[in-house]
Amino acid sequence: MKIALDGPAGAGKSTVAKALAQKLDIMYLDTGAMYRAVALYMLDNGISTDEQDKIEEALENIQLVVKYENGAQKMYLKGEDVSLRIRENAVSKAASDFSALQPVRVFLVKMQQETARQNDCVLDGRDIGTCVLPDADFKFYLTADSFERAKRRAKELTEKGQIVDVKKIQQEIEQRDYNDSHRDFSPLKQAEDAVLIDSTNMTVEEVINYVINILL
Ligand code: DC
Repeated sequence: MKIALDGPAGAGKSTVAKALAQKLDIMYLDTGAMYRAVALYMLDNGISTDEQDKIEEALENIQLVVKYENGAQKMYLKGEDVSLRIRENAVSKAASDFSALQPVRVFLVKMQQETARQNDCVLDGRDIGTCVLPDADFKFYLTADSFERAKRRAKELTEKGQIVDVKKIQQEIEQRDYNDSHRDFSPLKQAEDAVLIDSTNMTVEEVINYVINILL
């Protein structure tokens, strides 16, 4: 079984995808983490989005590996576990920028399709239903209004002890939505055959139950 779960930043895709994978005992692949790892590699090596040759060379040398440790997805670059670093704010911005580049997309889509060929899985991202797995058995497009998404993100950060400005988070989310949906290659958009779920007024449990009811 292949399940595609797309939608904008902060809509709760990863929470829902993890719960589905656990319930159905299938693999979960967080494709955003892969774009983040590529962006981190470019940042660490001082490569900017307009350096086409360096980007292509970097993709040949990157040694990007996805591992599962105690059920959690971990990202490795040249043997280093970068799972925490890819969540930094600067990396979120860079991931949105580098994910607009065709060589980066070609490189990662190939890895994602290979994983899906070998495993029953749920993939979350922006272009899973439209590009990575156009023949997925089930497709969902999960969204919520940007203020609600910003409040959820603020809550997560507050729980980690950080002081946050919800309005600023909302602006950053809207900027990423704009970047992700206006790029030339595989922009964020709902696949025609995807089920739209607006979670603005739904709890995580409600979203999961809604999806499970469709799957089973
Ligand atoms: O889901 P996320 O926030 O971790 O994703 C980080 C960035 O990667 C996001 O700005 C868009 C990009 N991305 C993408 O272009 N295609 C995907 N399938 C997944 C993520």
